[in-house]
Amino acid sequence: MITLLEKYQLNRMEQPPRPTLIDFHGVSMTKYFTDNWDNVQNFKARPDDILIATYPKAGTTWVSYILDLLYFGKTHPELQKSTPLQDRVPFLELCSPLQPSDLANKLPTTPRLIKTHLPVQFIPKSFWEQNCRIVYVARNIKDNVVSYYHFGRMNSLQPEPGDWSTFLHDFMEGKMVFGSWYDHVNGWWEKRQTYSKLHYMFFEDMIEDCGREIDRLCSFLGLSPSAEEKEKVTTGSKFDNMKQNKMANYSTVQVMNHKVSPFMRKGKVGDWKNHFTVAQNEKLDEDYKQKMKNATLKFRTEV
Ligand code: A3P
Repeated sequence: MITLLEKYQLNRMEQPPRPTLIDFHGVSMTKYFTDNWDNVQNFKARPDDILIATYPKAGTTWVSYILDLLYFGKTHPELQKSTPLQDRVPFLELCSPLQPSDLANKLPTTPRLIKTHLPVQFIPKSFWEQNCRIVYVARNIKDNVVSYYHFGRMNSLQPEPGDWSTFLHDFMEGKMVFGSWYDHVNGWWEKRQTYSKLHYMFFEDMIEDCGREIDRLCSFLGLSPSAEEKEKVTTGSKFDNMKQNKMANYSTVQVMNHKVSPFMRKGKVGDWKNHFTVAQNEKLDEDYKQKMKNATLKFRTEV
């Protein structure tokens, strides 16, 4: 059987139809991430695998690239020039012609870096059984929703985003691919209390001091790059450098129309101020107060 994505990859001129949301075990999803569910759930993690988990648009690509540079920048510099990041860091649940394990097994390097947007309760059990390291990145709700809105406009694998105010309303209701932002960031935060191999980090901290966050990542991963290596990682992963880098900026992905909105869009904290009306901001603040009951999880909407 040919998968939908396969069909559209074979004929690269055609765009896949925009999907609609489905209720999948209580989480809004689309078939592009659930059609292959048994294979995703049966994924066989290895003890040295590193899972990069995020709610969409929280900085997945940025952290993936940092990890890729930290692990392979010195030993495999040719890969960074020849292979798009999305092929070096496979997307666990994306329905592709290859099974998730095929994609991961094809990687020429170890440890395998694997990305996911799944809420914590959907993570295949082998990652827990193998006690894998997990890096979770979270982003403040206001910039996250703005970034997700523009992503919806440019990526035909996303449902039609509608206009900004409709999108914001749907977002607050959790009617987004991968479900509610609140459930996602809180679910992973709670997991961190019992699972020690989870490093929970924030987009805003990276914007504030990326070098410091790379040091923290290294200490979590047990890496000790030389000053020169670290400098290469810090420089290579700067927004402007990644934006120019065809192997990191998703310009090779057919389903994305960068003319509508570039994948590497702004890379800032506080762009939400250019989108929210005063009324929308008040409404979100109210919603946030109701739903963010966990007092220990704190976000910054300005740096
Ligand atoms: P914006 O749309 O706000 O610009 P993800 O990789 O999870 O899809 O997240 C994408 C968001 O991260 C986009 O946010 C993108 O610009 C931002 N981003 C990617 N690389 C970045 C970098 N090196 N520095 C700052 N932001 C970055």
